[in-house]
Amino acid sequence: MPVVASVLDLIGNTPVVDVSHLSPNPRVRILAKLESQNPAGSVKDRIAMSMVEAAEADGTLQPGATLLEPSSGNTGIALAMICRLRGYHLKIVLPQNVTAERRQMLEAYGAEIIPSPAEEGSNGAVRLAQKLADEHPDWVFLYQYGNEANPTAHLTGTGPEILRDVPEITHFVAGLGTSGTLMGVGAYMAEHAPHVKMYAVEPPSGEHVEGLRSLDDGYVPPVFEKWGGIDALHGKRIVRPADSIVWTRRLVNEAGIFAGISSGAAMAGAAKLAERLEEGVIVFIVCDGGWKYLSTGAYTEDLETVIDSIEDVIYF
Ligand SMILES: Cc1ncc(COP(=O)(O)O)c(C=O)c1O
Repeated sequence: MPVVASVLDLIGNTPVVDVSHLSPNPRVRILAKLESQNPAGSVKDRIAMSMVEAAEADGTLQPGATLLEPSSGNTGIALAMICRLRGYHLKIVLPQNVTAERRQMLEAYGAEIIPSPAEEGSNGAVRLAQKLADEHPDWVFLYQYGNEANPTAHLTGTGPEILRDVPEITHFVAGLGTSGTLMGVGAYMAEHAPHVKMYAVEPPSGEHVEGLRSLDDGYVPPVFEKWGGIDALHGKRIVRPADSIVWTRRLVNEAGIFAGISSGAAMAGAAKLAERLEEGVIVFIVCDGGWKYLSTGAYTEDLETVIDSIEDVIYF
């Protein structure tokens, strides 16, 4: 591997691992794309870089600027790494009940944290950020839910990498948060491998799975609508929080992949899909590693206790 000038040069080009021994159908292979290998630890490194570069290119982001973003996790951490290296000041609106590891990571990278009410969750953080952005027009509000540089990062990065490394792919499965991953990879496949079917993993309405949202809960991300929306998907798999935890544990115990909870959800969705296929090759996304979720006990505590606590702790 060549020596690189900056960790930012290590974003993308993530490896794919065969976890077909976890497939419930011997004729369906399941492959995990490890976005946890990005330098700040998640798939969001790609979109944070893409949004910053787009804002630099169009002049929105000037040297020394202040950025504002509502994020309870990965996007904030990725932006914090990039802002530190590029000399920007970053303010992150963060719900008060996220795990301590996230706050610590943001602080380690030098981001300023603006707390938002725990009971309002990530939607409350979005609302407060929007209000602050209106009050401070000089702050740059990249807003991952509406920023087309988000799906573009997957159109130009994640999608081509998958087809290059797994040309035999038949199905793609990913969790839906901002929808950037599914919309961007989907747009690439529609152009270059239109037989590939796109599946979203969502929690049931009203239930929480780390990193994911149910479109039925009321908020539809603007990037979802702008990039084809429901027509860009071939189906969705509803995954309950309990299944997500069970599969997160199976990934670590049976494949050695120490992943976050939404990756367990994506794996659960891939397994459900595999059961219904005649044959095929499914690629799913491991969004992040398990490090930020250790304090929740998700990997080692009694399963019922962890599932009960999902209602109290914000995982996304
Ligand atoms: C841990 C995790 N998993 C999954 C997702 C969903 O990805 P996307 O926003 O591209 O839909 C996110 C982001 O929202 C996330 O932070």
